[in-house]
Parts: sequence; C-alpha cells; structure tokens
Amino acid sequence: MLDGKRILLVIGGGIAAYKVLELIRRLREQNASLNVVMTRAAKQFVTPLSVASLSGGKVFDDLFSLTDETEIGHIQLSRAADLVVVAPATADLLAKMAQGLADDLAATLLLATDKKILVAPAMNLRMWLHPATQRNVATLQKDGVLFVGPEDGDMACGEYGPGRMSEPAAILAAVASAIEGDTRIALLPGIGRFDKPLAGRRVVVTSGPTHEPIDPVRYIGNRSSGRQGHAIAAAAAKAGAEVILVSGPVTLPDPPGVSTLHVETAIEMLAAVEAALPADIFIATAAVADWRVEAAASQKIKKSDTPPQFALAENPDILALVAQRTAGRPRLVVGFAAETDHILAHAREKLQRKHCDLIVANDVGDAMGKDENEITLIAPSGSEPWPKMRKDEIAARLVRHLAQMLKDRPDA
Ligand code: C5P
Repeated sequence: MLDGKRILLVIGGGIAAYKVLELIRRLREQNASLNVVMTRAAKQFVTPLSVASLSGGKVFDDLFSLTDETEIGHIQLSRAADLVVVAPATADLLAKMAQGLADDLAATLLLATDKKILVAPAMNLRMWLHPATQRNVATLQKDGVLFVGPEDGDMACGEYGPGRMSEPAAILAAVASAIEGDTRIALLPGIGRFDKPLAGRRVVVTSGPTHEPIDPVRYIGNRSSGRQGHAIAAAAAKAGAEVILVSGPVTLPDPPGVSTLHVETAIEMLAAVEAALPADIFIATAAVADWRVEAAASQKIKKSDTPPQFALAENPDILALVAQRTAGRPRLVVGFAAETDHILAHAREKLQRKHCDLIVANDVGDAMGKDENEITLIAPSGSEPWPKMRKDEIAARLVRHLAQMLKDRPDA
C-alpha cells in the first residue's frame, strides 16, 4: 500500500513518542521510505539511536547542521516527501504550526513544506480541551491539516479523557488514506466524552424540505435531503446539548440522542418549532417551501384538457419569526443561505433582513443531496470561508463555533 512512498516523520516531545517506534516499524513493513526529524524534547523520550535503527535512515534534529544543509537542506527535506506525519503532535507543536513559528528544524520544515500534513495529537486532556489548543486545532483544520485522534483513554499522568495518541495501527490507516487522497476515514479530532461544550444547553434545529400539498397525492417540494440539518442535530447532541430536531419529509433515520419531530408543511414546522422553544440556539437548516397552495384539493385533481391553476399563499418565514421574537428569542439564531448565485451578497442581505446572529452560506448547486459542502460563515462582524468538508465535519465544527459564540456573549 505504501510501497515506495516517502514519509517525513516529525516526532514531538511527549510520552506517546514511545509508540512511534512501533509506527516506524509498521511503516517500514509497508515499504515506505522514511526521513525522521526529532525535536529536542522528543529525544528525552526516545533515543535517536533507536529511531535510526528502526527507520533505516538518518535522523535529523539540528536546524543549523552544515552537513545537513549542504546535503539536503530543510526546504528540500520538507518537500521530498509524499506526506508529512507529526506524531506525537504536542500542544506546543500544534501551537507553533498554527502560528507559523520556525524556531527549530521540526517547526521550520512544517512551515516550509508544500505537502499534506497529518498530525496525531497527544497531550493531557486539560491541554487538549484548553481553548488555546482548540483554537489552534480549528486554525490548522482550516489550513487543511489532517488529524487522526486523539482518543479518549487513560493518560500517563493518571487522568482519563481525550488526548491519548491514536494507536500505531490507526495512524498507519490514516497515513494510507491521506496518501490516497481519501480523507473519509476519521481524520478529525474526535469530540471526546469530556468535551461537551453545549452541556446544559437546549438547541432546536429544522432540517429537510417541506412538502406543501396540492391534492392528496401531489405537493410542492424541493431537493433538500436533510443531511446537513440532521448532522448538525447529531453533532449538537454529541456536544452535550438537549436537541429537538424538527424534520420535514426525509429518508434519513432519526439521529441518535435527539428528539425528532416529523412534519410535512411549513405551517406544521412553525408550530413544532414554537412548541419546542425556548432554546439557547435555533438553527434553521430546513429548505422551507416559500409558497403553499392556498386551497389544496381534498380529492386527487383529475387530468383534464386545461392544466389546473393554483392560487399560492406565502409561507411563514420560520427563521425570521424566531429571530424577531421579543420574548423568548434564542440567544443564537442561525440561518442557512442556500444560493445558486451572488452567494455572499444574498447571505449578507438575509442576515440583516431576518435579524440572525449568523448565516451559513453555501452554493446549493454544489451541495444538495451530496455528502460534502463548502460554506462561508457570515456574521455582522465579518465572514469566514471554510474549506470543502463532509457535512458531518461541518456540523461538528459549526457546533464548536456556536458553543464558543455563546460563551463569548456577555449575557452568557
Ligand atoms: O429560503 P431562504 O433563502 O430565505 O432561507 C434562508 C433561511 O431561512 C434558511 O435558514 C431557512 O431554513 C430559513 N427559512 C425559514 N422559513 C421559511 C424560509 C426560509 O425558516 N419560510
């Protein structure tokens, strides 16, 4: 699988470095060719001699080594690889990467490389959950850095929680999928069981299309699959929130840990949302039909010579109604702007007109019914484009973002 692939392995200074010896052995078994860089701290945990013996190659550690600079140079070292792997990726290394620091060989080549980087974080759970580390992780993800782990588990320091480096086999699988360009394997930092940023919060989400009846068998609808809204509800529940999902007609299963209310029409969706409120956060992901047939026929309309004419009535704008509540307005009201053109301009206009705190804008031409989506967050303070990601990855990140927004609000 990795035959002839060149891997540049950066070993950071953490106790999990001992597991990297096993990773090196397995990479060599797969016929990968390895260059290894150790940070100064890494050498406190494993010796360059053991690393060199297993890797079958040279171990680099000194930014100013004249021989290394003439023979290879840190720029070349960083580029003569198919993949750069950082294991264990300590809090310090992640912070350096997020900041673009270059104060030793490892940091310099991580900045100089133009290759994909896969990191396997390992640190104490408090360090992993610290907002500074989580900010750095979010920055690195935005930069396209791939993650494997960390996992929940026992720590060397006697605590239990998220921060344990993934096992060598899991890192090896992530290396293979990263090299193949397949990032579907769990390359996202998991939300560990101690990481419940929405614990104690109540979240209401709408999802899917609405179906507005024309007669008992026909309806006005749209192509929304409900995947993004359902993924958001699932991610909010995983983050510890009590979640009520109001779903239009979809073929998806109800997400685990979520109370799902099933509706057909916009009017039913509004009633279900109002019954589900109050909430801390309202997320309107549903593609609500803008119009309904004013008087739907109670019998199937028969085909005749002239096509039937319908008077349409405007549906309630659920998002705008919730955002404009004077009493019981959720602290965060989030809308989606599914557009096919002038995406950002339309989204900004929606943010203001509907009085939302955040609009998630996307190009529906690209996203409807698919697993991936490319979005831009638009808030009154500015906008933030995100790289293309799977819808469940977007959901997990959006949930973390909203938890942070709630925390940052003075009325929290
Ligand atoms: O359809 P429109 O582009 O206006 O949708 C923008 C946002 O408003 C979406 O978040 C959608 O869920 C919400 N919306 C709603 N009720 C409507 C129309 C849209 O909640 N009747």
